[in-house]
Amino acid sequence: MPEHIFPIHDRMVQFDDRCKRLNQRPICLWFCGLSGSGKSTIAIGLEKKLFQEGYIAQILDGDNIRNGINANLGFSEADRAENIRRVAEISKLYLQSGLITINSFISPTRAMRAQAKAIIGPKYFKEVYINASLEACEARDVKGLYKKARSGAIKGFTGIDSPFEAPVQPFMNIQTEAQSPESCINQLFEAIEPLIQFKADAYE
Ligand code: ADX
Repeated sequence: MPEHIFPIHDRMVQFDDRCKRLNQRPICLWFCGLSGSGKSTIAIGLEKKLFQEGYIAQILDGDNIRNGINANLGFSEADRAENIRRVAEISKLYLQSGLITINSFISPTRAMRAQAKAIIGPKYFKEVYINASLEACEARDVKGLYKKARSGAIKGFTGIDSPFEAPVQPFMNIQTEAQSPESCINQLFEAIEPLIQFKADAYE
């Protein structure tokens, strides 16, 4: 730590006290997947479900990040890596304040996601593959971007002329082609509930 930065941890409200007050144990759900795979839909539905069940979560996605703090970043490999690095640092702050974070980014390479895991901490980082085939995402083409990528109007589009590396051993692999969003959301909620319930010694 640089000399001019003084540790203030002993003057701060402790992490465990925040968890106790919020009655939850935060984790970071890191959604990755192609554009159009269903990341945002599931993130929004899961946040709502968590809220109804008494948990507080915060979604981070392209809409609230790429329009604001990351407005200076594009879609080159280096810019995507920086996008993901900053998002990981922001999630870490949310986690430290006791909030569950749901991060919804293509995060296309294993190296980017490994960096996010290292920043956030392996015990909090839960990789969730929002899995739909390129064909299905392209057929949905909610934003019309696949059409533009095929015509060459957009260059370096993930899945078309920029890579996507599927996770090897994700915490969960959510198949969005084969089931409804509600079913995906319930599947995720059931898997995470044991992890986010407040227990005094959960991280010992
Ligand atoms: S990431 O690769 O850096 O993780 P991120 O999730 O923030 O990407 O943004 C993806 C969204 O940006 C897509 O859903 C799409 O709407 C838009 N977008 C614009 N250009 C591209 C591109 N070249 N590749 C992928 N997505 C793009």
